Amino acid sequence: MRKRILAANWKMNLTQTQVDSWLAAFQSNNWSSESAEVRVYPSAVYLKDFQDFRIHQGAQNVYYKERGAYTGELSIEQLQSVGCASVLLGHSERREFFQESNELIAQKVEACVQAAFPFILCCGEPLDVRQAQNHKAFVLDQLRKNLEHLTPSQLDLLVIAYEPIWAIGSGLSASVKEISEMHLAIRTFLSEQFAEAGQNVPILYGGSVNAANAGAIFACANVDGALVGGASLDPDTFYQLWLALCA
Ligand code: PGA
Repeated sequence: MRKRILAANWKMNLTQTQVDSWLAAFQSNNWSSESAEVRVYPSAVYLKDFQDFRIHQGAQNVYYKERGAYTGELSIEQLQSVGCASVLLGHSERREFFQESNELIAQKVEACVQAAFPFILCCGEPLDVRQAQNHKAFVLDQLRKNLEHLTPSQLDLLVIAYEPIWAIGSGLSASVKEISEMHLAIRTFLSEQFAEAGQNVPILYGGSVNAANAGAIFACANVDGALVGGASLDPDTFYQLWLALCA
């Protein structure tokens, strides 16, 4: 059975005081489950705050070089040294605002694989591509380029997050039909590329997931959880999503 995952992507939000209260609220809820896992991807300055909590914490980004003169960047080794268990790669905001190309993301994938460091690879199409009905080809092309060097035996490091860009932070999630169609396309791609092992890769949906739509989204075939931005900033709402995932 595939792992189900609820992941909070805080992006560039929350101050130290707000993180402290989020973690206090987090602790007062029950997050244990046999089949599901909760993860938080805070800004890197807060990573150490998670060390006392039994929670999977990850980074929002990483550089592919091991160390050296790369001002402002973080290495996999540095992230691991503060208890980071995984990293987001290729989020659409990294692609759009920081010019991350498919080639750069492939280099980051390669670095994660070399270090056996798990990662969530984000993919998703912009609105004009969706309107032109080229969304499947666009997303599969991203995956093909980003995962170029991955072999079936390394697949346990990989989680995919499908996040249509027009649905991110817009309050307008993709419909259940649109999500099911794309997740099936991704699953088929994984099976073609990696045979049987492709069946075990969790595929998360991201884009305006909230307490009202989570149940229907989690019920879709090939949806193994969610990567959540806005709705993860409030710990109570985030817990509602967890209950929906575990239902
Ligand atoms: P959102 O963001 O839930 O605020 O739409 C999702 C994401 O970008 O990971």
